[in-house]
This record gives sequence, structure tokens and C-alpha cells, in this order.
Amino acid sequence: MDKLLIEGGKPLEGSIRISGAKNSVLPILASALLADSPVTIHNVPHLNDVTTMMNLLGSMGAELTLGDKMSIEIDPTTLKDCIAPYELVKTMRASILVLGPLLARFGYAEVSLPGGCAIGSRPVNLHIEGLRAMGAEIDVENGYIKASCKRLKGARILMETVTVTGTENLMMAAALAEGVSVLENAAREPEVVDLAKMLIKMGAHIEGAGTDTITIEGVEKLKGTQFRVSADRIETGTFLVAGAISRGKITVKDADPESLEAVLNKLEQAGVDLNVGKDWIEVDMRNKRPKAIDLKTAPYPAFPTDMQAQFCVLNSVAEGAGAITETVFENRFMHAQELQRMGADIHVEGNTAFIKGIDHLNGAPVMATDLRASASLILAGLVAVGETNVHRIYHIDRGYERIEEKLAQLGARIQRLPD
Ligand code: EPZ
Repeated sequence: MDKLLIEGGKPLEGSIRISGAKNSVLPILASALLADSPVTIHNVPHLNDVTTMMNLLGSMGAELTLGDKMSIEIDPTTLKDCIAPYELVKTMRASILVLGPLLARFGYAEVSLPGGCAIGSRPVNLHIEGLRAMGAEIDVENGYIKASCKRLKGARILMETVTVTGTENLMMAAALAEGVSVLENAAREPEVVDLAKMLIKMGAHIEGAGTDTITIEGVEKLKGTQFRVSADRIETGTFLVAGAISRGKITVKDADPESLEAVLNKLEQAGVDLNVGKDWIEVDMRNKRPKAIDLKTAPYPAFPTDMQAQFCVLNSVAEGAGAITETVFENRFMHAQELQRMGADIHVEGNTAFIKGIDHLNGAPVMATDLRASASLILAGLVAVGETNVHRIYHIDRGYERIEEKLAQLGARIQRLPD
């Protein structure tokens, strides 16, 4: 296991390139299973979760070929079985995304039930109910989802909760179903739109992706294609917060500013001076201290839950006080205790963290618990006085590509060491 040793206090300066979106590339990799010929995906971020998804597809018999540094070719025609084993699924919940494609393309799937995780119980009942509505026979026994169906039939599905991977699973299943499916109360996240664009390039008939009603007219088959994954809006937001709280001047390139408008609005409310271009965003703090803000997380286009922990750090060192309310997951304030250990004036009541900005945090040994909490502890270390050791950073490697290299490129004093 590794740790990150950070010496805080240095304003970040310079520019970095944003990688492809983790939460786009995972469903897009799974969608390769729907094709009757190879697909090539470009701008793939080097993340542990991507490796896990590639191992999962490979374990089923798909042929994967790594292209130049950020491309992967997947040949699904060599698939041997439709089983996603516990050993792999337990390390990455997004493995559930193979369920819809396997069922739609091969009429059978056996996928380990993803357990809960640190941030919540995270059930997959809506995935299962939606596939049943399309005619799938699904049993959940011995920790596995066993699904079969001669051919899925189009259905109108109203999802009681907005679910990103639920929307993605059902959209992929509907792409090869017989007849028309309508997904209502669908997730509107940019990652859903990215997946829809990939499916349409493969020959799917999909309308309304990005709105809360997606209509899919099933087709007989989908062909291989090439596709470039869009920029990671959460990585973008994370680095913008790093620039803001370190009171420096940074530019993030190869970004997609339109995909994180709610985050940019909150940064501006916090007094962060932003310059926004077509595919870049610059933060220029001129050594100013950010102001604390109130926010509430909610499904896109509202403020993303995946940026909540990072804004807890911003409020911890901002001028004034702010309340941050988490409405998507039931247990996503694990970073609060760790920030308290660094001196933050933060206390959680129910699903709201009340935070009073202080002049500075103090470096401390801290422990990552989930992907975005880990990112927030790194941000805290960047601005704390003294040294911070962030342990269990395997969490961070799941979703951020070479984070310490990118931060070091911006002048941060950070190094990865064996733990
Ligand atoms: C996706 O998770 C993202 N992961 C998460 O990012 C993100 O936090 C989340 O969407 C919300 O934006 C990927 O895309 C791989 P949900 P997902 O289904 O799809 C409840 C990160 O840090 N729900 O939208 O699993 C669920 O419990 C990760 O990159 C049901 O009740 O989230 C939650 O309260 C963390 N039944 C709410 O819906 C279901 O069948 C939203 O969850 C499905 C979900």
C-alpha cells in the first residue's frame, strides 16, 4: 500500500490536462459487449477502476488490445461466458454495468451483487426492476443476480429514484430490445449523454439523453465503432478547488466547462475569479481567500455529490461559515472526522455539514475512506501548515490519474511513498 506525503502552504501555479471521465469510460467499456465487432475507445484514463473493468471483460473472454497510451480496442466476438464474479465485482460496484449489455446481447448474465460501500448501501433494485419490466427472468440468490431472457422487450420504465448507472444499464439493454423503451425520471448526467453518443455511433436509436426522458427504439444488432471519452468533470472540479484554496493561479486544459456549470457557479459565489474558454478553465486567486458558501447536492444539472467533499475543504479554510447538505448518499461525510483531526471547525448534523472557516488547517496523518473523501484530504494537505500523510490511497487511484504527478506539475510539494 502507498501513502501520499504532502507539505502544505504553496500556492499552485501552472496548467494540467484533464483526463477522460471515469464515470463515462466505465459504461462505455461495458457497452462494447453489445457490438458484433470490435470497438476502439480513445482518451481512456489510466485508473484502477478502468483496469478492473478491462479484467472483467477479459475474464469473460473478450479480447482487449491496448493502443497508443490512451486507447483500448475491445473485441467482444470472442466472449466465452457471461459471468461477472464476486472477486472482481467486490472491488468495483460499476461492474453492475455489464448486466444490461450481457442480457441484451447474449440473453444471459450472472453478476455478483455489488455490496454496499463506504458512502451508502447503494442498492441496485432499480436496475433489476427495469430489466424485469423488459421481460427478463431475474433471480437474486447466493449473492448473485442471475438473469435470462430470450429477447428483451421494450417497456416504459419510471425510475422512482434518479440513478446514473441504473439509467445507463437500462439504456444499453433497451438498445437491442424488441420495440421501443421509454426511461422516465432518467439521470441527466453528462456521462449518460456520453454513453448515448457511443451507442448511437454503434447504430442505436436513442433520443432524449441528457433529459429526464430517454426514448430507445431497439435494433437487431449494433456494430463496432471508435469513440473518444469526454473530459472528467469531477477531476476538473477537484483541481479548480485546489487552485482556489491554495490561492494560486492554475489552468485546467482539455476540460468541458459546460459539464460542471453548477460547480463553476459555486466557485464564483465563493469569490473565485474564473476565466472560462471552450475547453479550458483558469482560476486566478491573486492570493485572495475564498468565501464560505452554502450548497446542496442533487442529481445533474444540480451540484454533484462527487464534489461535496472537496467543497467541505474549501469551506474549512474560507472566510465565514457555510452549510453543505448531501441529499444523494446516506453516509458521505466520512471526510469530516479526518478534517476535524486537521483542525477544521466542521460538525455534521443529519445530512448537513456545518463548517466555519479557520485561518489554516494543520498537517496530520489521515486515512482515506472513499474516492472523493481521499481527494478532499489531499486538498486539505495542500493548504495545511506542516506535513500531511494520506494513508490508504488505493481509494484515490481508482478515480484520479496520477494525481500526485499532476499536482507536482502545479508546484505542490507531494510525493507517493510506500506505507
Ligand atoms: C454513479 O453511481 C457514479 N458512479 C457515482 O460516482 C456518483 O456519485 C453517483 O452516480 C451519483 O451521481 C459511476 O457512474 C460509476 P446512483 P451510481 O445509482 O450510479 C439510489 C465516484 O465517486 N439507488 O445514481 O451507483 C442510491 O442508493 C462515484 O465517481 C437506488 O436506491 O449512483 C443513491 O442513493 C461515487 N436503487 C441514489 O440512488 C438503485 O437501483 C443515486 O445513486 C440505484 C440507485
